[in-house]
Amino acid sequence: MISARAQLLKPSPTMAMANRARELSKAGKDVVSLTVGEPDWPTMPAAAEAGIQAIKDGFTKYTAAQGMPELRAALAKTLSEELRVPVKDSDVVVGAGAKYVIFGALQMLLNPGEEVLIPAPYWVSYPTMVELAAGIPVILDCPAQQNFKLTAAQLEKAITPKTKILLLCSPSNPTGIAYTADELKALAEVLRKHPHVVILSDDIYNRLVFTDEKVAPHLLHVAPDLHGRTVAINGASKSFSMTGWRIGWAACPPVLAKVLGDFFSQSTSNVCSITQKATLKALENPEPEVKKVREILRGRLDSFQKSLAAIPGLKPEKADGAFYVWLDCTGWMGKTHKGSGKKITNSAALADVLLDSEAVATVPGIEFGLEGYLRLSFATSEAQLKKAVERFQRFGADLI
Ligand SMILES: Cc1ncc(COP(=O)(O)O)c(C=O)c1O
Repeated sequence: MISARAQLLKPSPTMAMANRARELSKAGKDVVSLTVGEPDWPTMPAAAEAGIQAIKDGFTKYTAAQGMPELRAALAKTLSEELRVPVKDSDVVVGAGAKYVIFGALQMLLNPGEEVLIPAPYWVSYPTMVELAAGIPVILDCPAQQNFKLTAAQLEKAITPKTKILLLCSPSNPTGIAYTADELKALAEVLRKHPHVVILSDDIYNRLVFTDEKVAPHLLHVAPDLHGRTVAINGASKSFSMTGWRIGWAACPPVLAKVLGDFFSQSTSNVCSITQKATLKALENPEPEVKKVREILRGRLDSFQKSLAAIPGLKPEKADGAFYVWLDCTGWMGKTHKGSGKKITNSAALADVLLDSEAVATVPGIEFGLEGYLRLSFATSEAQLKKAVERFQRFGADLI
């Protein structure tokens, strides 16, 4: 009964693991879930208050499909500062989460058979979203030797006349690693030679960085000349802890802004009016709150990484931002877990046995396109992280 397109649809593996963890919890197991990329701190208080006020004020009706004008204006100002290029109000489109904005942008950009370059490891949703837009995901392997990042030479080699989009995510989910300004400059040099390539930059973690900068380096910082073919996507989920409010946005080339707004008008209509008011408030002065979050995350990351690094066979990669530890588990591959008698053949087997035997939920690296790793979200309490480390230690000691 279902369409050929529907048959391409893979459910999100992160959500699947999180659901398994939730079921085990319900059944009474003391589960430590390091699966979902969701802040464990509350929504920015000023934003939450503004949302409540919006309900009290009866601001509960349709707005313009591409976002209410005040919000687009506020976003244009924020994005102009963040991206260091002039973003006009009319270039900004607001959608139901960065995820749906990416989905919509792909729908509006891709013709059947056009290629999208996706550096791996990648966010789990990208390839499926490309396929649903009738595009072809072209996965570019970026192993540890290149610090999990796309090189200019690799990009040059991968571009064909059919290439339509390069997808960049920095800091990255799953690695937390960000491109440096120099690396972006090198990519920009290649992109300049290929004017048919559109850059889709997923900036969802750009404020959650562990350097002294307020935002991560961006392609447009070093190559403002690429502004006319760059779509910069962001949202309130991670930086303002607003995952459930469902809002994201894009700074688009004008021709895309128009059709993306039309696409939303024919699918979701506007993002929840209450959410838009809350986001408008969050944008007034986000830095003090985001700074607090950054400091908490940096503290957690340091201690979590140190503890994991002390476990034989594990090597956490150094992260620049976001809230993930990209854990090299190659030292555990091929071993057998005595307790369960199961062999650790790959990252999926490892995640399975860890969940079954130690009730630690993680996401296997293979879901992000790279074998031998686990992704651990550390957007959870220090107490939970400590428990996770103890369980990893016990698990490691039981491997032969
Ligand atoms: C890389 C990346 N992009 C986009 C999103 C989507 O965020 P949103 O909640 O705004 O849809 C996520 C969420 O996990 C993500 O990790």
